[in-house]
Amino acid sequence: MGDTVSYKDLGLVNSRELFRKAVDGGYAIPAYNFNNLEQLQAIIMACAETASPVIIQVSKGARSYANETMLRYMAMGAVAMAREMDSAIPVVLHLDHGDSFELCKSCIDSGFSSVMIDGSHLPYDENIALTRQVVEYAHAHDVTVEGELGVLAGIEDEVSAEKSTYTQPDEVEDFVKKTGVDSLAISIGTSHGAYKFKLKEGESVPPLRFDILEECQKRIPGFPIVLHGASSVIPEYVALINQYGGKMDGAVGVPEDQLRKAAASAVCKINIDSDGRLAVTAKVREYLATNPGEFDPRKYLGEARKELIRLVKHKNEAVLGSAGKA
Ligand code: G3H
Ligand code: 13P
Ligand code: ZN
Repeated sequence: MGDTVSYKDLGLVNSRELFRKAVDGGYAIPAYNFNNLEQLQAIIMACAETASPVIIQVSKGARSYANETMLRYMAMGAVAMAREMDSAIPVVLHLDHGDSFELCKSCIDSGFSSVMIDGSHLPYDENIALTRQVVEYAHAHDVTVEGELGVLAGIEDEVSAEKSTYTQPDEVEDFVKKTGVDSLAISIGTSHGAYKFKLKEGESVPPLRFDILEECQKRIPGFPIVLHGASSVIPEYVALINQYGGKMDGAVGVPEDQLRKAAASAVCKINIDSDGRLAVTAKVREYLATNPGEFDPRKYLGEARKELIRLVKHKNEAVLGSAGKA
């Protein structure tokens, strides 16, 4: 266990003001997952170059992969790097899918400015009790909290759900009131990972349940809503992966026009992990296959980083609308 440190001493901000502006302005703050140096560099460089506020987020698995002390200094370094680029963009360090009070507390104590407590798989009253407990500790440290109602389908390393359950709009107002959360993740048909929809030949991706989103918005007007599982699973990356020895048949994600529509609503945070993973894997596979004698990680990870910068800029400018809002 490292020393206790406040995110304010690391140059980070919580998400409160960012979300207020995003809801009012009809855009969404990008929340990119990272696990390593190249991913973090790419996210920060691209957000600094597009003058976009950013949430850099870490799952429980990513935190143990990267080491909690290392992460703190990486986040500090990210803020300093953006400043050196003459772009003092607001940076939030967020815990993605926190699964216990202890994990959330540990992240708050080690410099996170925002945490998610994901009690969505619990019975409603237990979700409220756990979320409330995290909110009390977090708000005492001026840290913002994301809760979740409704379950997303899809499997990630440590985030899994067999089946999805859409959010019930009738519950959102009561949940927000009783827990005191600062934002709410809802389930409207997205899912985690690269295989979001099982499509038969000739079928297209079904639309997200914007009717449920609207019903939720009516009950909690202006309240910040979060969309998980929002990667588009960009077909060009899947094709490159398959071309250079990978096997990702049937990978499909959320079309960009649906994300643009969501970003213009009360959805003020859009989570993207899989698209970044695909960009890195596609470029590493391509580079190694076409340069079989190369063994310097800077070469293939450098190519991956370049592609990730392109991807993040594209998301900020053409999908989320966060470019220029820092
Ligand atoms: O929503 C989950 C994120 O994509 C994190 O996945 O647990 O494999 O790091 P992970
Ligand atoms: P994707 O798997 O669609 O990128 O979703 C990421 C996510 O929701 C992280 O919490
Ligand atoms: Zn998620």
